[in-house]
Amino acid sequence: MRLFTNCKVNLFLKVLGRRPDGYHELETILHTVGLSDEMEIVPTETGDIEVQMSLAEGVTGDLPSREENTVYRAARALLETGASNEGILIEVLKHIPVSAGLGGGSGNAAGALVALRDHWGLRLSRAEMLEMAATIGSDVPFCIQGGTMLASGRGEILTSLTDALAGWFVLGISDRPLPTADVYAEWDERSPRAETNPAAMSLALGAGDIEEVASLLHNDLEAPAFRMRPELPAGKEALLEAGAFGALLSGSGPTVFGLCADEEQARAVAARVEPAFDRVEIAPSRDRCVEIQAEASL
Ligand code: C5P
Repeated sequence: MRLFTNCKVNLFLKVLGRRPDGYHELETILHTVGLSDEMEIVPTETGDIEVQMSLAEGVTGDLPSREENTVYRAARALLETGASNEGILIEVLKHIPVSAGLGGGSGNAAGALVALRDHWGLRLSRAEMLEMAATIGSDVPFCIQGGTMLASGRGEILTSLTDALAGWFVLGISDRPLPTADVYAEWDERSPRAETNPAAMSLALGAGDIEEVASLLHNDLEAPAFRMRPELPAGKEALLEAGAFGALLSGSGPTVFGLCADEEQARAVAARVEPAFDRVEIAPSRDRCVEIQAEASL
């Protein structure tokens, strides 16, 4: 079974406060973007879960250990329901940088959950799938669905949004990852609370008004991430100067994205901002995270 899992950007992210469990209460709008990892799932004779993860050419980052790997944890969560005792090898080729604020690992976990559910013919309700996804990571429930959603709680409470935005994104990538937990800890230092809410962004998305969406881009984690990585604001400035309608840190960073109307604009912006980043990719809006391609190997 071959599949692709897309990445995400946060078009809006407001931190409401730190919770007693250490997580942070959020209001965020997530939007799926078509820079994708490739996954292949193959049954084996071993009775075990094996994950082989590798970086595509030019992609940097530290690969997680087996126990930390969201793909391994997703497969194990399904097996713990007594789903199967079949061995499984999951290969992942990473095009999405690791710990970059693009939700690559969350997408891989969602891909493993959806593909293995289908492969083992499991009758899990949508609610059960989302609950299992939330045990793996805060963004994994969103990745099960993909498209554009408003997320609250720690990111796992989802509301679909009408989204007519068909944008192109210029992703300004840094080779040095920024651990999510560290950026939230830096937010805790000052706990800034923006006087903003996602309503206007929801309306702009519904209308597909790209310039309005660009003017409403907001991320409360941007200031803490920029304090930790002082070179990032220059990347954001470069995207705006190069002609992107708007630019923002994605999630907890360090990726900074520029929003463009079409591929031509995205290519032109990408060419101009190359010196400001370690790597630049362009990718369009997508309406789902997990794209199952074929079942050839089963
Ligand atoms: O849920 P996930 O494993 O992706 O989160 C990674 C880390 O990011 C958490 O351990 C926590 O420190 C931080 N986090 C948070 N509030 C959220 C999501 C993540 O504090 N809503």
